[in-house]
Amino acid sequence: MSTPKPTTGAILARLTTDQMSEHDLLEVVEIEERSGLSRWGWAAYYAELQGVNRSLMLVARPANTATPGVAGYIVARETAGELHINNVAVREEYRRRGIGCLLLNRILEEGRRLRATTAFLEVRAEDAVVMSFVL
Ligand SMILES: CC(C)(COP(=O)(O)OP(=O)(O)OC[C@H]1O[C@@H](n2cnc3c(N)ncnc32)[C@H](O)[C@@H]1OP(=O)(O)O)[C@@H](O)C(=O)NCCC(=O)NCCS
Repeated sequence: MSTPKPTTGAILARLTTDQMSEHDLLEVVEIEERSGLSRWGWAAYYAELQGVNRSLMLVARPANTATPGVAGYIVARETAGELHINNVAVREEYRRRGIGCLLLNRILEEGRRLRATTAFLEVRAEDAVVMSFVL
């Protein structure tokens, strides 16, 4: 008999969101590659971690599973009061459990703390769509 999947509530209750560190980058790049996002790669994330926007690079970690590590991440930049969310991705096995939503909320909180007044998220489907939020 297979082990039942943890519920959304159980995952979120034991999830932490932390600022990304260079130790997370191998997993972040793996998630990026598996999620079909435009490629940044290790060097671009590493360079971003050295810059002024490093507080806008977050990872979500489930604390209660047999496979700890990075379940998802989000990366944004703040310029002139605008928060630009560049990448957000969640490991396929953790999707539809609220982790994407949690990461988005945490980055919007951080954007507000940095006095951003508008946030933009570009989503590429058939045509690029840009969503903007008033913070
Ligand atoms: C987009 C992504 C980050 C969402 O992560 P997630 O953890 O699954 O998102 P959540 O569980 O917080 O979903 C929140 C809501 O978004 C909507 N949603 C999420 N994935 C969806 C999908 N594939 N289709 C339709 N709606 C979806 C739903 O309304 C969902 O709420 P519900 O599950 O209660 O119906 C994840 O699917 C992913 O990594 N995709 C590949 C990378 C990508 O496209 N990133 C966005 C552009 S940068």
